[in-house]
Amino acid sequence: MRLQTIILAAGQGTRMRSAQPKVLHQIGGRSLIGHVYRLAQAIGSDDIAIVYGHGGTVMLEACREFDASWIEQAPQLGTGHAVQQARDRIADDHCVLVLYGDVPLLTAETVQTLVADVDERTVALLTVEFADPHGYGRIVRGPDGAVRKIVEERDADESIRTIREVNSGIVAFPGKALKGWLDRLSTTNAQGEYYLTDAIEMAVADGFTVATTLAASASEVMGINNRVQLAEAERIYQARCARTLMEQGVTLRDPARFDLRGDIEKIGEDVEIDVNVVLEGRIRLGDRVRIGANVCLKDCTVGDDTEILPNCYLEHSEIGASSRIGPFSRLRPDTRLEDHVHIGNFVELKKSVVASGSKINHLSYVGDTLVGRRVNIGAGTITCNYDGANKYQTIIEDGVFIGSDTQLIAPVRVAENATIGAGSTITRDVPPDRLTLSRTRQTTVEGWERPRKKEK
Ligand code: UD1
Ligand code: CA
Repeated sequence: MRLQTIILAAGQGTRMRSAQPKVLHQIGGRSLIGHVYRLAQAIGSDDIAIVYGHGGTVMLEACREFDASWIEQAPQLGTGHAVQQARDRIADDHCVLVLYGDVPLLTAETVQTLVADVDERTVALLTVEFADPHGYGRIVRGPDGAVRKIVEERDADESIRTIREVNSGIVAFPGKALKGWLDRLSTTNAQGEYYLTDAIEMAVADGFTVATTLAASASEVMGINNRVQLAEAERIYQARCARTLMEQGVTLRDPARFDLRGDIEKIGEDVEIDVNVVLEGRIRLGDRVRIGANVCLKDCTVGDDTEILPNCYLEHSEIGASSRIGPFSRLRPDTRLEDHVHIGNFVELKKSVVASGSKINHLSYVGDTLVGRRVNIGAGTITCNYDGANKYQTIIEDGVFIGSDTQLIAPVRVAENATIGAGSTITRDVPPDRLTLSRTRQTTVEGWERPRKKEK
């Protein structure tokens, strides 16, 4: 059967107390609906439809890379009404899977198990057992244990309210039959809504089997309604990511103090990560990479055997092998470091390339610069790359030695093996192999005396 996934995301989410649509709030750097969309893709959905209500334009803009059709539901008259809006997209031979846009921690394994149960005569329901089932639809079973119906909290009598097995909301139907049941839904219930759950009782009456899968953990089917639940879900998600990494052979000094807000696309052997490290965006780490405490990496690639010392912020950069970065270094976007490079404390690089074996160890700003091999850039060196309107390039060729406290006024080129004397302001190109410096000669004033305060 082809898999048609419908993601319900039209609910208001007022308890979030946010100007933003609820499903755009994030867990692990990805929106709630982004997690659900990914899941829909991971399980091989042939078609994905998203039913939305509030914040339409904001939502479409935030999710513009999604390969999905967007269906507006206005007004919102219940989960059954939401699925009715997607009725035109449902083909008879489809398996129709309903997911919620605010249930982000569901796993592909669970949903695959669920979907595998569906055939022309079988509906599959994901249920969960709660110690406190309050607020949820209860799963009512017959004496033979077979599901008979789902009863919503507000329609339930005392005995049904004691049932602890509840509807997660995640359900899969054969397409042809679902369309028939959608057409027969009514609003004769306590909330005056079209309940998708009423389709279960109809399925049973029509002689269908209702198969159930019990969710492995409550967290998998947890819905996010407020910021407290958002924070809880974030911790559960992070614990999962940390566990996966450790299983892949990464040492995490403290898995509770590790945050992944994106994807690790590659991870080498024996990587070590100290506490309070935040990895954002797309990250690739080579073998034996060590990352110190309080480091943030965003969209970075790090080569084998490189060590990043504490308190660095590295963004959209490529770092080679056997290098040492930090402590307190900042790499701004489009920086590329080759191998055996040292970047030290209070050094900022932007849109620059540093070739193998070069060192920039203390208190420098290097922007829009090409640094050759085996270059040594002394403390306090600054590339003056910006005149207030335009940016200019600096080129520092192989083997150059730049004395401390040098300003390089770009555009400027320092040729191979040149040495620049400390304290220089370099405004013109520098020839190779020689010493260049620009500073006034030191003089001593004879007979000068320091002024003195008058005695009272
Ligand atoms: C629903 C189920 C209930 C189940 C519970 C699990 C029904 C009638 N009840 O409860 O059995 O235990 O989920 O959380 O199906 N939505 C729309 N349009 C609407 C209404 C809802 O898109 O008109 C979306 C919401 O955005 C949300 C999901 O559907 O993602 C569930 O809505 P919610 O109101 O939270 O669920 P209940 O109806 O209370
Ligand atoms: Ca709910």
